[in-house]
Amino acid sequence: MFTQAQQESVKALETPFYYYDMALLAETLDRAKAAADKRNFHVHYALKANLNDRVLALIQSKGYGADCVSGNEVQKSIDTGFSPSQITFAGVGKSDKEIILALQQGIFAFNVESIQEMEIINELAAGLGVRANVSLRINPNVDAHTHHYITTGLDDNKFGVPTSELERAASVIRQASHVDLIGLHFHIGSQITDLNVFKSLCVKVNEWKNWFEERGTAIKVLNVGGGLGVDYQHPDENAIPDFEAYFDIFDRFLERSAQQEVHFELGRALVAQCGSLVSKVLYTKSGIKKNFLILDAGMTELMRPALYQAYHKIERVDANTSAEEKLYDVVGPICESSDCFGKEVPLPASERGDLVAIRTAGAYGEVMASRYNLRDEIRYVFSDQF
Ligand code: LLP
Repeated sequence: MFTQAQQESVKALETPFYYYDMALLAETLDRAKAAADKRNFHVHYALKANLNDRVLALIQSKGYGADCVSGNEVQKSIDTGFSPSQITFAGVGKSDKEIILALQQGIFAFNVESIQEMEIINELAAGLGVRANVSLRINPNVDAHTHHYITTGLDDNKFGVPTSELERAASVIRQASHVDLIGLHFHIGSQITDLNVFKSLCVKVNEWKNWFEERGTAIKVLNVGGGLGVDYQHPDENAIPDFEAYFDIFDRFLERSAQQEVHFELGRALVAQCGSLVSKVLYTKSGIKKNFLILDAGMTELMRPALYQAYHKIERVDANTSAEEKLYDVVGPICESSDCFGKEVPLPASERGDLVAIRTAGAYGEVMASRYNLRDEIRYVFSDQF
C-alpha cells in the first residue's frame, strides 16, 4: 500500500488515522463518471458514505450531484459547491426545519418516503410560497441479498411507500397544490455484489413507472438509488468496481423514453477502496487459546466490524516483512468484546509499534466514528501529503 519511502513518513505520524489515496479516488471517480456519461446517466454522490472535506471537494469538482439525508448534509453540499439543482434529499424522518432549508435552497428533488411526509412538504412549501419537486420512494420488495441491517427494499423495512399505498399516494399528489411529482425513487440496499439484483430492480421500476403512466402521470426521473458493492477481500486486485457492467444492466433493462432521466445515488462504490485506517500495535498478548494484537484504533474509529460483523482486510503496512505468520485476533482498546476487527487473522509475527492497515475503509468509516470513551477526534492524511 505504501512505498518504502512513504513507510518512513507514515511511521512518524500519530496513529490511528484514516489514509486517503487521492489518486485512486480520482481515477475511480473518472471511471464511474465516464461510464455514466456514456449512457447519459446522472450520478448523485451519497454524502453519507464519506464527507471528509477534501474527498467531497474532489467529488464535487468531477461534476457529480449530491444525495443527502439530512439538512446538514444539504447545507454541507451547498457549502462545498454542489449546485442545488443537483441535490436530492432522502430519509424517512425529515424534520420541518430540514424540509424548510431544502425548500429555500431550491434543491432538485425530495425523495419522499411516506404520504404524511408528502402532505407536510406541500404545507411547508405553500407557507413559503414555493413549489417542491418530489420523487416518490417506492418500496419494491426486492431482496438485495446483503446484510439485513443494510437491506432497505423489503416489505418489512421502514423505507419508502409500500406498493399497497400507491393509489392513495397518487391521489394525494394530484391534490397537492405546491408539490410536483417529477420522479420515482428506489433504493433496495447497500453492498450489493450480485448484479442480478439490479436486474430484478429494473423489472420493478418498469412495472411501477408503467403503473403511473397508465394513470396519466408523467414520470421524468427514474432514480434507482445506490448500492453497488465493493470487493472487501481484494482491495488491490479490485480497487475500482466494474462501473461499466453496473450501468450496463440499467441501460439494458430499464425501459425509458428519450426524455426520461436515469439517476443514481452511489456512495460506497466511489469511496470505499481509497481509504484505509492505519493503526499501531500497542500490545501483543497470548491468551490460553488466542494471540491478540491490541491496536490503538477501535470500534470508535471504524464501527463496521462491530456493528455488521463486516470483513475488512487487515495487513501490516511494512508488508514485505519476512517474519513467520501467526494467527491473531485483532482488537481495539474499547471496553467491550465487540471491539474486534478480525478473528484468526494471518499476519507476520508482530510487535509493539508495528503498523497495520485496515483496508477498504473509505466508505462508512470516518463518518461513523464516535467519541465513545472520550476518544480523540479522528485524524486523517492524504496520499499527496507525502
Ligand atoms: N441512497 C439511499 C437512499 C441510501 O439509503 C443509501 C445508503 C445510498 C443511496 C448509498 O448507498 P451505497 O451506494 O453506499 O451502497 N453504514 C452501512 C451502509 C448504510 C447504507 C445506507 N444507505 C455500512 O457501513 O455498510
